[in-house]
Amino acid sequence: RLDFQIAPSILSADFARLGEEVDDVLASGADIVHFDVMDNHFVPNLTIGPMVCEALRQHGVTAPIDAHLMVRPVDRLIGDFIDAGASYITFHPEASDHIDRSLQLIRDGGCKAGLVFNPATPLSFLDYVMDKVDMILLMSVNPGFGGQSFIPGTLDKLREVRRRIDASGRPIRLEVDGGVKVDNIAEIARAGADTFVAGSAVFKARNAADPHRYDGVIGDF
Ligand code: DX5
Ligand code: ZN
Repeated sequence: RLDFQIAPSILSADFARLGEEVDDVLASGADIVHFDVMDNHFVPNLTIGPMVCEALRQHGVTAPIDAHLMVRPVDRLIGDFIDAGASYITFHPEASDHIDRSLQLIRDGGCKAGLVFNPATPLSFLDYVMDKVDMILLMSVNPGFGGQSFIPGTLDKLREVRRRIDASGRPIRLEVDGGVKVDNIAEIARAGADTFVAGSAVFKARNAADPHRYDGVIGDF
C-alpha cells in the first residue's frame, strides 16, 4: 500500500484568514499544504507568491508546503520560494527553458523538486530527469482555476507514470491536481496516485458544528 497524503489547495481557502484556514485543514488531518502560484501569463489567473509562503511559516506552519509554480519564467521564483520555506517546488516543463537546470536549482536549495504535466503535455519530458525528480504532478484539469471537473484521461496517464516510477526504484511521489472529490479519489488511487490535491472539495466542506474543522471531507478521503 502506498503512503497516501492529502494536500488541500489553499486556492479555495478564505484568503482574508489564510493562516487560520491552513491551521484548520492541518488539524483536520491534511498532510501537505498545496500552494498555487499563478502569474496571469502562463495561466490566466493571479494568486500569491513567496511573501505569503514566508508568512505561513512565520505564522507557525511546520507541515510541508508544496509550491506549485504556474509561472514563466520559473528560475528566479524558485530561489524566492527556497528562501520562503517551501518544501516541494514543482514547475511546468514548458515554462522553463532549461528543465534540468531548474530541477537542479531546487535541489541545490535543499527542496524537493517536481515536474507538473498539463493534461496534454507529454510524459517524454521525464525521459532524462527521472533521477532528479522527487515528485511528479499530473494536472487533471487545465491549470488556472479551482472547481473544474476531473479529466478522465488522467487515469491512463497516472498508470503510465506509476509504471515509470516503479521501474526507477526511486521514492518519487505521484500527485494529482484538479477535480479530486470523495467520489473519485479511490479510482485515482487505484491508478497509482499517492498524493491528492483537493481545493474546492475540502474547503466547501466545513463542519457545520465546528467551523474550524474540515474533517468531513479529509476524513472521507
Ligand atoms: C488549478 C490548481 C489546483 C486547484 C484545484 O490550477 O493547480 O490546485 O486549486 O482545485 P479543485 O480541487 O477545486 O479542482
Ligand atoms: Zn495546484
